[in-house]
Amino acid sequence: MSKPTVVVTRQLPPAALNPILERCDARYWDSEEPIERGTLLEWVQGADGLYCLLTDTVDDELLNAAGPGLRVVATMSVGYDHVDVAALRKRGIILGNTPGVLTETTAELAVALLLATARRLPEGTHAVESGTWPIWRPMWMTGRDIHGSTVGIVGLGRIGAAFARMLGGFGCRILYTGPNEKPEAAQAVNATFAPMDALLQESDFVAVHCPLNEQTRALFSTEAFGKMKATAVLINTSRGGVVDQDALYQALVQGEIAAAGLDVTDPEPLPADHPLVSLENCVILPHIGSATVATRTKMAVMTTENLLAGVEGRPLPNQVD
Ligand code: GLV
Repeated sequence: MSKPTVVVTRQLPPAALNPILERCDARYWDSEEPIERGTLLEWVQGADGLYCLLTDTVDDELLNAAGPGLRVVATMSVGYDHVDVAALRKRGIILGNTPGVLTETTAELAVALLLATARRLPEGTHAVESGTWPIWRPMWMTGRDIHGSTVGIVGLGRIGAAFARMLGGFGCRILYTGPNEKPEAAQAVNATFAPMDALLQESDFVAVHCPLNEQTRALFSTEAFGKMKATAVLINTSRGGVVDQDALYQALVQGEIAAAGLDVTDPEPLPADHPLVSLENCVILPHIGSATVATRTKMAVMTTENLLAGVEGRPLPNQVD
């Protein structure tokens, strides 16, 4: 029996790659750099399965190039805003992603970013490195307390809930918002539902944990920043597109909010000369929410399991509904 044909768009750890090489005819892009679009459009022709990353746009053009044999798209990410889900559905192609395995790791990064931004850690290390660390002064490098603060979580999904649970140790009051109330999840982490406007008005820290979609694109706009406290800090570890970056820049410069911590931007990588990079009150990380050795390995392996299940006609361990 002939092996299924699959395309793999990036270099993978052996634990994820080897089962694919054993059980499939793989067109493998063995590089740390993204596959060129033209090559991907060629390689995908006649493929049964596609192993992709969040840097690969999966749209009508690509699916047309693949032809009718494509059965499964497995993305090595929990987010799938780079995939046109309706276009997949139209063709009966299934989509697999990697929820669960990155929850705790990503929530930990959100806590780290919250601390780094609230306590101005990059500014502090920069002062040490640049020799501008002055003698101890009462109000130098003062930041904001997390304990006793109100933290507003936008999106109480897996990662938002894990973040709320971790903050339990700080004694914060936790608010959350989203399209639906989630009484069970909220009770488990002692969070209270609030409409978006109330959450913006009352929170000292606002943490974004929602997916990027048509409802959440540029949710953090000039209007939203106008509702936040002048002392508030925005933390975003979901997708850059949820925040209107021009509006954020203005809000930070004009003191409408105090600071922002971003693990995600639009575009990525964010050019080093982007105005947000120049701001001391904006801490920017290079999309490393799930970046631990263990978690990235698990994500890569889970994506392989989704791909193989899809091309071998078995139910996917993690199928997007
Ligand atoms: C990372 O951002 C992911 O969606 O897994």
